[in-house]
Amino acid sequence: MFATFILLWLCVSFIIVQMKPRRPKNFPPGPLTLPVLGNLINLSLENPLKDFEMLRKSYGNVYSLFIGPKPAVVINGVNAIKEALMTKANDFSGRPQDLFINDVTERKGVVMVDYGPSWRDHRRFALMTLRNFGLGKNSMEERIHGEIKHIINTLEKNIGKILSPQVMFHNAASNIICQVLFGTRYEYDDEFIREIVRCVRENSKLANGPWAMLYDSFPMIHNLPLPFTKAFRNVEKLVIKLVNEHKKTRVAGEPRDFVDCYLDELDKRGSDGSSFSEEQLIIYSLDLHFAGTDTTSNTLLTGFLYLMTNPHIQERCQQEIDRVLVGKDRVGFDDRHNMPYMQAVTHEVQRIANTVPLSVFHCTTKDTELMGYSIPKGTIVIPNLTSVLNEEGQWKFPHEFNPENFLNDQGEFVKPEAFMPFSAGPRMCLGEGLARMELFLIMVTLLRKFKFIWPEDAGEPDYTPVYGITQTPKPYHMKVLCIIHLNTVIK
Ligand code: HEM
Repeated sequence: MFATFILLWLCVSFIIVQMKPRRPKNFPPGPLTLPVLGNLINLSLENPLKDFEMLRKSYGNVYSLFIGPKPAVVINGVNAIKEALMTKANDFSGRPQDLFINDVTERKGVVMVDYGPSWRDHRRFALMTLRNFGLGKNSMEERIHGEIKHIINTLEKNIGKILSPQVMFHNAASNIICQVLFGTRYEYDDEFIREIVRCVRENSKLANGPWAMLYDSFPMIHNLPLPFTKAFRNVEKLVIKLVNEHKKTRVAGEPRDFVDCYLDELDKRGSDGSSFSEEQLIIYSLDLHFAGTDTTSNTLLTGFLYLMTNPHIQERCQQEIDRVLVGKDRVGFDDRHNMPYMQAVTHEVQRIANTVPLSVFHCTTKDTELMGYSIPKGTIVIPNLTSVLNEEGQWKFPHEFNPENFLNDQGEFVKPEAFMPFSAGPRMCLGEGLARMELFLIMVTLLRKFKFIWPEDAGEPDYTPVYGITQTPKPYHMKVLCIIHLNTVIK
């Protein structure tokens, strides 16, 4: 009996030891791994960013980790990230295909699709369509200004009062992308926008959070009826309804929005075996909406948090805005060329917001090398954008909010190469143009019309962001006052 027990114990121990993930030859170094768990115990599942920084100090700019049994390489610092995502773009532009987020998005759309023809065709289509249809400078500016009017209405109703800006900025960013995708803007209390924004915020917390880590580490839990895919499915149904309505009301060849453009493209391609399909369109629309809402609104939230708590910076912005826009009823995106300080502030807001701290995970498409290490095909690659956005040696003030990071000695705007909030290389953010336009036009218009004040009874500001695939500031309140302009009617 005792001998059987010992034998059984030895067998189990042997199996467990065999299950311990092992680093391949010349793989980047990293902490010791445990059977089954890999390095999960080295990371805080709530917010691993500090752990990533500590591991970087121990193992250097390129190190490895095991997410359960899956090997991952974390890339830090501008040089390593440039080598991987730009110099060796073809090797490092894949996406992992067996993560929580792949299952949620059904391996369709663009964000999580692997590097290959479907991704390339859909990315090209989106860039072209957004350029012709929405991003084409003037029409997009019109749309953004149209939405800004609704932000202004909300703020005007709250003059002298204390307001929570979270939902307002989320709704505004969502509406801008909804107009591009579906040709519709929604009132802020509309059921559709409430549901889609709730889903975006929920999924953003889930996607890099503890549940996703467990899901990614333990394939055996995949088929359990887990709660977190429900929100996505609900919104998917709403988008299917919208696409069906488009199919009924569209006139072929006269697109009103992104969905119509895609349906035209489907007509054109017929059954040529391409990756374009109605199912793709549903997830693609959700992809673009998701990618374009939480990112922009969280950056705006961070911006106003720092502007309120740094009133001298807010005032300097307002002085520049008043000087450059004198006699103009509203700001245009081209005005940025005459506003170096405002440009520096919007960029510094993006740097400090660090909105997508670990980018979107990449994956190697073939056996490759990075900084002298060997990395096999199919390895998860985590570009740690946080490590670049506050990298010592790259910034004048890496750890404080200071627009001087983007100004030279002559007060001109300069953009250091470590400014990578949109990542780099072929997978770089597809909505960069739209996002930059939104951030500039919204911030300038609001700062021109209102003064934002940190409420007297709000205590000390807490700048620690809430971690997720996109980071957001902790909920806060703002006090809004109106600025009176004597000579110009501001629209
Ligand atoms: C401040 C705002 C934004 C930030 C900081 C941001 C940042 C990022 C980052 C870091 C990535 C990952 C790139 C990589 O994998 O290397 C990304 C991808 C992406 N973003 Fe954005 N983004 C923003 C706004 C937008 C907007 C407005 C849109 C919508 C049009 C958008 C659409 C996308 C898409 C579709 C991808 C996936 C690209 C691909 O896989 O080829 N983003 N973004």
